[in-house]
Amino acid sequence: MFKFAVVLFFAILATSTCKRDKCLEGGTHKHRPSPELDMHECTLYSESSCCYANFTEQLAHSPVIQVSNSYWNRCGNLSKSCEDYMKKIECFYRCSPHAAHWINPNYTAGIEFVPLCQNFCDDWYEACKNDATCIHNWLTDWEWDENGENHCKNECIPYNKVYANGTDMCQSMWGDSFKVSESSCLCLQMNEKDAVAIKYLTSESSEESSSVSSSEERACRLLGGLRYNKF
Ligand SMILES: *[C@@H]1O[C@H](CO)[C@@H](O)[C@H](O)[C@H]1NC(C)=O
Ligand SMILES: *[C@@H]1O[C@H](CO)[C@@H](O)[C@H](O)[C@H]1NC(C)=O
Ligand SMILES: *[C@@H]1O[C@H](CO)[C@@H](O)[C@H](O)[C@H]1NC(C)=O
Ligand SMILES: *[C@@H]1O[C@H](CO)[C@@H](O)[C@H](O)[C@H]1NC(C)=O
Repeated sequence: MFKFAVVLFFAILATSTCKRDKCLEGGTHKHRPSPELDMHECTLYSESSCCYANFTEQLAHSPVIQVSNSYWNRCGNLSKSCEDYMKKIECFYRCSPHAAHWINPNYTAGIEFVPLCQNFCDDWYEACKNDATCIHNWLTDWEWDENGENHCKNECIPYNKVYANGTDMCQSMWGDSFKVSESSCLCLQMNEKDAVAIKYLTSESSEESSSVSSSEERACRLLGGLRYNKF
């Protein structure tokens, strides 16, 4: 009987951790997240990371010129402020152990509708307002050469001529990868506050019992508290 209980316990433990311990498929992603002690960037995910520490080397020197086969400087070097946001997005996609919660069922190396906070998108838009780009959708609008490297098809124009505002930018730069959340708490902003939001966002869909509004309330209260205590 005791033996059975132990087996059952580990079976439950295994299924519950298994579900969470997952990375997006393909590309540079590990099979499972694990700690990375020597991250150069993306340190938000050091404790549990879907990228190897060596991946982050290419993000460590500003201006970032190239990440894997993608050139970031096709319309000139990014400003430091704009680059910081690009890095946050790159780090989330490559390294976050939670990204797979929003895995795109049609394309398992990709994500869909990850809820971003409105203020994060607005700040990002502001940070890039003096930068230029030649694409609207980073996933579909490049011309890719035989080496898998990206080139502009169109001329470089300022971000604010390409995107109307932060919402438009967040919801179109990476196709369907991101959406702007209606909630100001149950959303990600790619910083340490995400830990609280993630906790409620990822339990919401598996626990039918807790309604969205009550988990939003709890997340908001906790984040409010965090602001007073820590920030
Ligand atoms: C990065 O590190 C991993 C594991 O340590 C290794 O398998 C991989 O080949 C490394 N990649 C590069 C580009 O060095
Ligand atoms: C972009 O940054 C690189 C590396 O620092 C530098 O060599 C290059 O001159 C910069 N390009 C422009 C157009 O400023
Ligand atoms: C996935 O593919 C199905 C069937 O082709 C399509 O109806 C759906 O819109 C696709 N979803 C996404 C997120 O691309
Ligand atoms: C942002 O731009 C979109 C697309 O043009 C528009 O529908 C929306 O109303 C704008 N939002 C704000 C807050 O200005």
